[in-house]
Amino acid sequence: MSFARFCFPLREMKQKKEPIAIPKTYALVTGASQGLGKAMVLELAMRKINLLLVALPGEGVEELAAQLAGLGVEAHFYETDLSQRENVLKLTDWVNQNFNVGILINNAGRGGTRSMLAADAEYVDGIVQLNIAAPALITHQLLPNLLRQKNAYILNVSSMAAFSPIGFKTVYPASKRFIRHFSLGLRQELKGTGVSVSVVYPGPMKTNADVASRIEKQQWMGRIGLVSPEAVAEVAVRQMFRRKTCILAGWGNYLNWLLLAMLPNRFKIPLLTKAVRKEMDGLP
Ligand SMILES: NC(=O)c1ccc[n+]([C@@H]2O[C@H](COP(=O)([O-])OP(=O)(O)OC[C@H]3O[C@@H](n4cnc5c(N)ncnc54)[C@H](OP(=O)(O)O)[C@@H]3O)[C@@H](O)[C@H]2O)c1
Repeated sequence: MSFARFCFPLREMKQKKEPIAIPKTYALVTGASQGLGKAMVLELAMRKINLLLVALPGEGVEELAAQLAGLGVEAHFYETDLSQRENVLKLTDWVNQNFNVGILINNAGRGGTRSMLAADAEYVDGIVQLNIAAPALITHQLLPNLLRQKNAYILNVSSMAAFSPIGFKTVYPASKRFIRHFSLGLRQELKGTGVSVSVVYPGPMKTNADVASRIEKQQWMGRIGLVSPEAVAEVAVRQMFRRKTCILAGWGNYLNWLLLAMLPNRFKIPLLTKAVRKEMDGLP
């Protein structure tokens, strides 16, 4: 052994070390163009996480990606209607062929208030496809990708509406209950892997004009638990990284959750149905 090697073994070891290639990973956010999805994108961008933005065509997601590039974050966008199964499969193929996914946020979703009799088929099918089928299929298709990463996170967006059936919303709360059960079941399945599954239950958020007007019409009921999308996004992303199972934002929503858990169905379902019926002023 040479004198230098004997005296400076650490320096030798350092010189011999091969550089470790850390794969670049991305966070995929659906419904990234506005509302809660956009707020979560900005939360992730502040942490310098690379992003894959998914939204409907022509809704500004391209501009958002350019804005993120200006902040030093690599962002790609994909515009598609997620309520079509073949679009979901094309999206996930594109992702799997080009990117390592470390975070999946299933946020895109739609609601509404209609009587079942007056609603058309597109309304019912649209909620089922976007809120149930798309997140389940996206997660299924991206799971092998997520499992390849050392640490990975899935965050599914449910709603406080998941905690009770509500007449005239009917399909929406049921779809958000699906998200709860899907998330909790998958979390259990993935125990012992590097992938954690969290589910966030936002209360009312004035994310767009239509939702804001519906919340206003609910009067005091709509105001309990009202939190800005930015505040929900901050809590959701922070708790996701802590691998928390269920995420609530704002004291009003903890109170709502407690009330909904305590009240029997025969009281809470008529009470909530009466409140949301006010949203239907002018609707069939
Ligand atoms: N707002 C609330 O009071 C509230 C309460 C509880 C839970 N949530 C849940 O939170 C999530 C976000 O809600 P939000 O209020 O932020 O909604 P939003 O403002 O209406 O935004 C919805 C996002 O989903 C996208 N999206 C809608 N339909 C789509 C489709 N067919 N294919 C692809 N993307 C589509 C929209 O894209 P475009 O911009 O391209 O249309 C938009 O980026 C939803 O899952 C919702 O159910 C909302």
